[in-house]
Amino acid sequence: IQSLIIDCDPGVDDAVALFLAFAAPELEVLAVTTVGGNVPGALTQRNARMMRQIAGREDVPVFGGAERPLKRPPAGAGDFHGAEGLGDLEPFAPTGIIADGPAANAIVDLVMKRPAGSVAVAVLGPMTNLALAMKRERRLAEHLGPVVVMGGARSEGGNVTASAEFNIWADPDAAAVVFGAGCEVIAFGLDATHQVRATEDRIRAIEKIRTEPARTTAALLRFSQRTERQATGEAAPPLHDPCPIAWLMRPDLFTLKPCRIEVETNSELTRGHTAVEFRVDPAAARHRWAVAADAQGVFDLLAETLKAKK
Ligand code: BDR
Ligand code: CA
Repeated sequence: IQSLIIDCDPGVDDAVALFLAFAAPELEVLAVTTVGGNVPGALTQRNARMMRQIAGREDVPVFGGAERPLKRPPAGAGDFHGAEGLGDLEPFAPTGIIADGPAANAIVDLVMKRPAGSVAVAVLGPMTNLALAMKRERRLAEHLGPVVVMGGARSEGGNVTASAEFNIWADPDAAAVVFGAGCEVIAFGLDATHQVRATEDRIRAIEKIRTEPARTTAALLRFSQRTERQATGEAAPPLHDPCPIAWLMRPDLFTLKPCRIEVETNSELTRGHTAVEFRVDPAAARHRWAVAADAQGVFDLLAETLKAKK
């Protein structure tokens, strides 16, 4: 069983990723930490607590984190996630409390008190919290297990600008810290996540499952289907954030290539671009880039996991 901290900005697809991880027998979720991203931090932490309650996982602490990127003004992606971040779900005040202490401290504490290499971190939003944690504790990078991230764009370009994907674009300086830290980072950028699309059949398969997390997941996917159609004309929206979680559960669903990833932090034109260099010594490479995904396999895994109660 892999111990895991999930750092996220729910966010419709973050919410689906949380449901997948909360129900996964392969994963022990130690904590959820939140960051301002798709919507402001006050909402992402409330949304994480809402999802925790729907999943019946109040045993997992939720820590609030950075409200803004390291150097840039806060961004937002309300067009794709709705004004409150969870599509058209009716917001409610969760009963579970927010845990004490900023997310960056929680990450340091949880990782440093466990054996080196044993705790994975999934970053599903701007990387501000993990970057702050690395600045706070210099030994964190070498103590971390795999860092799995949703972020980056390469072959088909970005989704915010021609060059950049939202999570990296929102806080390029934090992403540069994380990719430069020397820890193992596995990146699921748009090359992979744009292959994992919620087609009508796949949404229907989830609509048939009679658990609360499945019902909520289906509603979130329906919302994404509508917004994707309006924004891009595509019939099936990509399911970004569940990809790194799915990889931790079933690595065979993805094809990864060893590489070195660097982030553009200076140019306004290409801000947040991920330069992915494959001409590296595979044995020494610290980064891997997802080039292909078994989309049906990811959706089958999501459906099977949401069916089974943990
Ligand atoms: C990423 O940006 C956010 O809007 C999504 O939640 C995902 O993490 C996709 O570019
Ligand atoms: Ca996200």
